[in-house]
Amino acid sequence: MNSNIVIAIDGYSSCGKSTLAKALAKKLHFVYVDSGAMYRAVTLYFIRNQVDIQNPEEVKKALAQIHLNFHSRDYQTHITLNDEEVSDEIREMKVSEQVSAVSALKVVREEMVKQQQRMGSSKNIVMDGRDIGTTVFPDATLKFFMTADPKVRAERRYKEMIANAAKITLEEVFENLAHRDYSDTTRKESPLTRAEDAIVLDNTELTPEEQLQFALDKVKPFLSN
Ligand code: DC
Repeated sequence: MNSNIVIAIDGYSSCGKSTLAKALAKKLHFVYVDSGAMYRAVTLYFIRNQVDIQNPEEVKKALAQIHLNFHSRDYQTHITLNDEEVSDEIREMKVSEQVSAVSALKVVREEMVKQQQRMGSSKNIVMDGRDIGTTVFPDATLKFFMTADPKVRAERRYKEMIANAAKITLEEVFENLAHRDYSDTTRKESPLTRAEDAIVLDNTELTPEEQLQFALDKVKPFLSN
């Protein structure tokens, strides 16, 4: 049995999962893995190379050409796609619009899950995503399921995007989130759902500091001094 600690954080899009995951990893000196960034990088490759996602053979061939790597600098996600840093480009709307369709593909999920399980096999990690507590690490040490009011989520994401000079309206952000929620929760392959043993964290009215404290209190019993 592995003795490393795995903290799984799942939940809806733009609900503060990565903010909490990063803060938790930093505080505990764990490795942080943003699993959504992996689906986004695959999506970016598919867009650039015009991969027909209806064609399973083409998808399989494309997947074999993709090499992803994480470089953690101060707990910010730095992801490379075939040695090119794509951390900013994967957040652009063109990727957000396609990522749900790409992440619904069985072959894509199988490959990502394999890589994610490898990352958590020997190290203490915090991983955020949609299926971490249900599929990737069903035996995770601790699982959180995050949720928040959809309007609040859209406003938070909108502010973030505007700060990064994106040209977008609040309505467009809201629509994109609603679309991804629908697609993530209704897809056939490991849809977003709360693991039975996950702790629900609704952060609509909580500050990042309050969320971190909540999570730390839950983690404490698992830490050896
Ligand atoms: O966390 P995010 O919004 O960056 O994730 C981008 C997309 O990837 C999201 O719409 C759903 C998908 N995703 C997934 O299907 N499974 C994961 N473990 C993480 C993300």
